[in-house]
Amino acid sequence: MGLTILQQIEETVTVIRRLYPKLNESMGPKTGIVLGSGLGNLASEIAVEAAISYSDIPHFPVSTVEGHQGKLIFGQISGKRVVILSGRFHYYEGYTPAQVVYPIRVLKFLGVETLLLSNAAGGMNKAFKVGDLMVIHDHISLFVVNPLLGKNESSLGPRFPDMSEPYSKVLIARAKEIAASLKIPVHEGVYAGVTGPTFETRAEYKLLHIAGGDAVGMSTVQEVIAARHLGLAVFAMSVITDLGIREEDNIITHEEVLQAAAAAEPKLTALFKGIIESL
Ligand code: HPA
Repeated sequence: MGLTILQQIEETVTVIRRLYPKLNESMGPKTGIVLGSGLGNLASEIAVEAAISYSDIPHFPVSTVEGHQGKLIFGQISGKRVVILSGRFHYYEGYTPAQVVYPIRVLKFLGVETLLLSNAAGGMNKAFKVGDLMVIHDHISLFVVNPLLGKNESSLGPRFPDMSEPYSKVLIARAKEIAASLKIPVHEGVYAGVTGPTFETRAEYKLLHIAGGDAVGMSTVQEVIAARHLGLAVFAMSVITDLGIREEDNIITHEEVLQAAAAAEPKLTALFKGIIESL
């Protein structure tokens, strides 16, 4: 018989602790970070204590996307101990929802209590411009597969998790204060999760906007569901890389998304550093 999810996580954690013995001696990181496409620069700000390739970690999915190196990086940012999942797993790559959220579950068992995520997203709110930042205060996950489908592992979390506050109100308030002090304008809104890999049709952008979405993207919601199941506090931020509700002849490309993400990245990095410092 195969291993249960809990046995897999325990094996994974054992190997990570062996490869990063300091985890055993000192307090482990309380903050986990997942960075979006084209938004990986925060990882270069970390005073690295250990960088473990995903390929050396049992049961970890292996990264396939270009520009994602696939490493678990431990170290300090702004004097705070953090762990970065450098390399994210998207459902559109063909991973199962359980694989997409596996690293999030491992973070919890390494002692993480707060999860920070970023992503590139298409703007649908008419007030948004390319390069803007949006604090995610809620999401719509109905268009993706819920990662908690199937037998519930009760040692991870409850069968029917509450989702009334997927994104921590305390962290949202703090992020807005920090943004204001750094003079970085931020919007606040609802992230509509989709599977991709196609960008949306005009009719789909319209539908998602009418349904209550301010931005749309292909990541984050499955990870947030798993994180809330585990009881982690979550904060997430979108960088608006293109405008879904747009001129008739505006075509969206992955290159444009990456370029816009890179241009907005310094703002995001400054903000995340401020939030990490405050934790
Ligand atoms: N749609 C979905 N995902 C995205 C988009 C978009 O417009 N932009 C960046 N990721």
